[in-house]
Amino acid sequence: MAQLRGVAICLIVSLFVGSSRAECCKDGETKVDADDCTKYLACCHGEFVSKSCASGSYWHSDLEVCVVDDGQCKPPTCVEGDIKLNPENCAGYLQCVNGNIVSQSCPSGDYFNSTLNQCVEDTCGVCLSCTEGSKKADPSDCSKFQICTNGVYVSQSCASGYYWNALSKECEEDNGQCKGTEQSCTENEIKVNPADCAGYLQCINGKLVARKCSATQFFNPTLGQCEVDTQNVCIPKTCDSDCCDVSNNSIWPVEKNCSAFYQCVDGKKFEQRCSNNLLYNSQIEQCDYPWNVDCDDGSPPPSGPNAGPSGTYCESQGRCVGQRDGTMFADASGGCSSNYVVCQCECEVNFTCSSGLLYNALVKSCDWADNVKC
Ligand SMILES: *[C@@H]1O[C@H](CO)[C@@H](O)[C@H](O)[C@H]1NC(C)=O
Ligand SMILES: *[C@@H]1O[C@H](CO)[C@@H](O)[C@H](O)[C@H]1NC(C)=O
Ligand SMILES: *[C@@H]1O[C@H](CO)[C@@H](O)[C@H](O)[C@H]1NC(C)=O
Ligand SMILES: *[C@@H]1O[C@H](CO)[C@@H](O)[C@H](O)[C@H]1NC(C)=O
Repeated sequence: MAQLRGVAICLIVSLFVGSSRAECCKDGETKVDADDCTKYLACCHGEFVSKSCASGSYWHSDLEVCVVDDGQCKPPTCVEGDIKLNPENCAGYLQCVNGNIVSQSCPSGDYFNSTLNQCVEDTCGVCLSCTEGSKKADPSDCSKFQICTNGVYVSQSCASGYYWNALSKECEEDNGQCKGTEQSCTENEIKVNPADCAGYLQCINGKLVARKCSATQFFNPTLGQCEVDTQNVCIPKTCDSDCCDVSNNSIWPVEKNCSAFYQCVDGKKFEQRCSNNLLYNSQIEQCDYPWNVDCDDGSPPPSGPNAGPSGTYCESQGRCVGQRDGTMFADASGGCSSNYVVCQCECEVNFTCSSGLLYNALVKSCDWADNVKC
């Protein structure tokens, strides 16, 4: 009768409540608790209620009694939703989620108060991991530092052109100590490489990386790209430095040496000497008679009939230049004279006619005085 009444109550409750989760049952009925083998469901007044087996026992579904557990039942490690202190993180807690204990974080600035069993604002600094305002280096970027804000280190940038000096613990002017600052670049951006005219710097993964133009190219900074180096802008030149940018066979004077000049032939620099006793005339850019050349190199005036090979320094008025050996000239005095000049290797050598004879310019030899017009 009591059982029937329980069923009746259950039916009535179900009818009225409608959505009741309670399952109608006969008192004394039992069921497995699908969530926990250390528990079972027992029918009481027409509803199933949860019951626990004694510690160390579990619900045996076939025998419908609690029996000593020798390993068959593995109860869940935690009760769903349970919260407890995380001994390793004062700003967080451990929570049972889907039967597993999961580490959770309190909202920023909170700590977990185990008495209240919840996260509360950490006004007293119970759980701060750093001293407010303290600074330290940012290991990932030397242009930044970390500052303790609300108990946690937060990254902050030094001003542009400054870097974090770990010793002074201050931002200081960056004169190349920190590679981080100049390396902050726009991806793929291309820049001149001051150390390599045949290459450039490119921003790859936020860092400038040196790249090479192809073999015959140089980096044109105006166009920002590699170009074939037709003008030898960058590819090493084989010419002597003075001869790179001048036309072939250019000549120019040698300092403090009136008879010498420089000449570029096919990019090579040569020092040449004016042949005979000519001097270099920079106005006409060729060797010239000394009297046409305004040059004083402090060298002593030529002396003696140094009849050497062509080009050696010998006395000359320039008259024998280009003349065959043996060519004769009258003495420079011009008048009747027994002195004359013979060209020898383009040098002028003084000669004197035998006694009683004079130099005859017409026949170019010594002659009787009567035959010489002067
Ligand atoms: C947790 O909160 C209680 C109540 O506010 C407080 O008395 C206690 O000191 C707190 N515990 C800690 C560790 O701060
Ligand atoms: C430069 O001048 C020299 C001598 O006159 C000549 O032999 C040579 O071929 C010239 N070189 C060029 C590139 O014109
Ligand atoms: C001038 O240059 C020539 C040729 O290089 C050299 O032989 C001569 O000794 C130089 N003279 C002086 C005064 O330097
Ligand atoms: C050669 O003759 C000229 C003209 O008479 C004279 O000036 C010069 O000194 C002479 N040279 C030598 C080496 O005697």
